[in-house]
Amino acid sequence: MIDTVRVELGSRAYDVRIGKDLIRHAGRELAPLLRRPRVTVLTDETVAALHFGALKDGLAAEGISVSHLALPAGEATKSWRWLAHAVDWLLEHRVERGDAVIVLGGGVVGDLGGFATAILRRGVRYVQIPTTLLAQVDSSVGGKTGINSSHGKNLVGAFHQPSLVLADIGALDTLPEREFLSGYGEVVKYGLLGDSGFFSWLEANGRALIDGDVGLRVQAVLRSICMKAEIVGRDETERGERALLNLGHTFCHALEAAVGYSDRLRHGEGVAIGCMLAFETSARMGLCAPEDPVRLRRHLRAAGMKADIMDIPCQFPDADALMALMAQDKKVVGDRLRFILARGIGKAFIAENVDAALVRSVLADALQGERRES
Ligand code: NAD
Ligand code: GLY
Repeated sequence: MIDTVRVELGSRAYDVRIGKDLIRHAGRELAPLLRRPRVTVLTDETVAALHFGALKDGLAAEGISVSHLALPAGEATKSWRWLAHAVDWLLEHRVERGDAVIVLGGGVVGDLGGFATAILRRGVRYVQIPTTLLAQVDSSVGGKTGINSSHGKNLVGAFHQPSLVLADIGALDTLPEREFLSGYGEVVKYGLLGDSGFFSWLEANGRALIDGDVGLRVQAVLRSICMKAEIVGRDETERGERALLNLGHTFCHALEAAVGYSDRLRHGEGVAIGCMLAFETSARMGLCAPEDPVRLRRHLRAAGMKADIMDIPCQFPDADALMALMAQDKKVVGDRLRFILARGIGKAFIAENVDAALVRSVLADALQGERRES
């Protein structure tokens, strides 16, 4: 059974297909898009070893030939250096404007590969085949592409929508638990930002889906993608509502920068901790009940996730240094702090002019927690 979610963007609309064995049937799914039976694939070395063979066979079954480039796995690949390498490789392989490039992997190759196709010959079509939970529920949908800069995360990029997304739930079977839990941070985010019923569903079913229940995984990915598709359909380039998808991200990006984008913090782990900090801030401002952050922490802990700064194996700088890192965030307008806060679980909103001293105190307390534990 394959579910389809349409991202309604007029001439740039596309389908997200969700189900098992989609990689093996990629040829059938892709054939209608191709002007010639030839594709290039951007992937990473880990994913190539696990899933490229099935993709190649699936394409061959439809008579489609394939060349692939496997980049090093990891966040450091989202860089100018590897972007230039990927673009040059695509040019060497004579990718033309009418072709479609496949991006197979997690959010790192998804973001980099999408950006490479955005700038290649001023825009070439691409197909996302996300293989991490994080990429399936978030990064493969919506067309945000890009790389990191020495000034911060995702600061160089473009909006470039894919032509098709194939979310193969079976690909998650090879994902290490830590990576699965990182993606689960983004799943929880959807419940927190706009659907308290989904959050309650996750409280009831989260552990079973983490443990491998395929039916529950499909439901979680489907609900997440539906929410993202609806928001992106209404606000493609983040003029307003789409910013809600960044719940927890201002804190997360500062934490990721502070650990040097290293393995000590996976992106979705940072999102979960960032959501906790956003709810702590909201509670401190009297926007949501004090029980809401308590409930969120309980769920993250029950799922086996990091929930607090003190869970990250790092000696963090002080709260002022984290505040300075947050100032590079794209949600900072002028000197004003713009955060996604919440009036309760499922009730996120964009808060302008947030009191910097209050945010600083939330961070300082979170860092004290770290020092008490270390
Ligand atoms: P990732 O791409 O680095 O993947 C995580 C690790 O899992 C890598 O080592 C990868 O090789 C491995 N892997 C991937 N699929 C696998 C599989 N099926 N089996 C075994 N191993 C597998 O990281 P990610 O967590 O997928 O993505 C994080 C990135 O996504 C960050 O750079 C973040 O900024 C970005 N992101 C982008 C958006 C967006 O809208 N564009 C949204 C959220 C996050
Ligand atoms: N991941 C946030 C967005 O796509 O807008």
